[in-house]
Amino acid sequence: MALVILGHPHSETSLANKTIIEVLQKSEMAIEVRDLQQLYPHYQIDSKAEQEALLRHQTIVFQYPVYWYNMPAILKHWFDVVFEYQFAYGSQGDKLRGKNFIPSFTVGGPESEYHTKGEHHFRVYDFWKNLEQTAYYAQMNYVEPVYFHGTSPHAGLTEQEVKDKAKHHAGRLLHRLRELE
Ligand SMILES: Cc1cc2nc3c(=O)[nH]c(=O)nc-3n(C[C@H](O)[C@H](O)[C@H](O)COP(=O)(O)O)c2cc1C
Repeated sequence: MALVILGHPHSETSLANKTIIEVLQKSEMAIEVRDLQQLYPHYQIDSKAEQEALLRHQTIVFQYPVYWYNMPAILKHWFDVVFEYQFAYGSQGDKLRGKNFIPSFTVGGPESEYHTKGEHHFRVYDFWKNLEQTAYYAQMNYVEPVYFHGTSPHAGLTEQEVKDKAKHHAGRLLHRLRELE
């Protein structure tokens, strides 16, 4: 059993993240997907419902496209309202202790642009330290992210190639989920 929090503000036009979700849903694993855009089109996130969903699962996957070297606003807002004091942190805030925290994301630019002399200057992992620390602060078990590059149209891949990479990504994610069972 795993919970997938899908933080894509336009899931209807998504190619990469949508493909990943489709593969996960077709797998034999029991996976609950919460599509934040569909559930909360006006960003009125129900923190209690989300916390209850977290309590039902041992493993939480955060699935999203990288936007401005970070997660899309709807997912950041989800963290702001769901990872509350005395739930995720604080003297009584141990409700997420020991749960697995897996970032799973798609990166528009190719890997070759993510280095000191490249367009994006930093290595891609330089951008997810905040996620790792968020997991530690909530006493969760941080699992190495699953991701792939080249989902932007200017990255040079065809739609079919992006789809194939997304399917491969989903396979790697499922493998990681099985290892955690
Ligand atoms: C608002 C916005 C910001 C983006 N910022 C980045 C970025 O900082 N780095 C990057 O490599 N790609 C960036 N991209 C490209 C997205 O990562 C890419 O469109 C996404 O991974 C494709 O996934 P999808 O097919 O599920 O929509 C951005 C795209 C949008 C729309």
